[in-house]
Amino acid sequence: MESVVKKILVTEEQIDEACKRLGKQITIDYADKGNFILLGLLKGCIPFLSDLMKEIKLPLIAEFMDVTSYHGGIESTGDIRIRMDLGTSVKDKHVLICEDIVDTGRTLDTVMKLLYHRGAASVEVVTLLDKPGGRVIPLNCKYIGHTIPTEFVIGYGLDYDELYRNIPYVAVLKESVYSKE
Ligand code: IMP
Repeated sequence: MESVVKKILVTEEQIDEACKRLGKQITIDYADKGNFILLGLLKGCIPFLSDLMKEIKLPLIAEFMDVTSYHGGIESTGDIRIRMDLGTSVKDKHVLICEDIVDTGRTLDTVMKLLYHRGAASVEVVTLLDKPGGRVIPLNCKYIGHTIPTEFVIGYGLDYDELYRNIPYVAVLKESVYSKE
């Protein structure tokens, strides 16, 4: 699997540090917000949400949505589809969306608008990675693990064509992997 890695961008230790730092801050900020919803966007959020939630020392409701924008390639299409909706009402609830990476901002923009439309009291974003260079829609994430350059990355939940989510760190994918197609 390592043969597709061009370089490691965020190590396991850096991911661990980010989860602890963000969990601590979220614990402070959400202490007075009641039972809030930590909403993971599948499938990329899985390792991050799992590690992060253990660092949030508050009662929370974990929910998931499956929203897709990429269709096997490396460029965002802007075509967002909800494949699986969350199983609870967000009305008057504080929602913290948990993302693996924010690139163009299209996915989050759509999901945030939808949640506000459904009556959420607040909607914020925690993302392990932010790629501000790829932004098409202005969008600020409240909690960011690491800011990275505009490169296509894999690992720790991030895939290329559904593969490599199980690499334990974040790495740049070798160009030769996608230029073959
Ligand atoms: P956005 O709508 O362009 O912000 O894209 C967000 C989604 O695109 C993320 O949740 C990922 O699923 C995917 N994505 C964006 N950049 C990358 C990347 O570098 N590697 C893998 N997936 C990515």
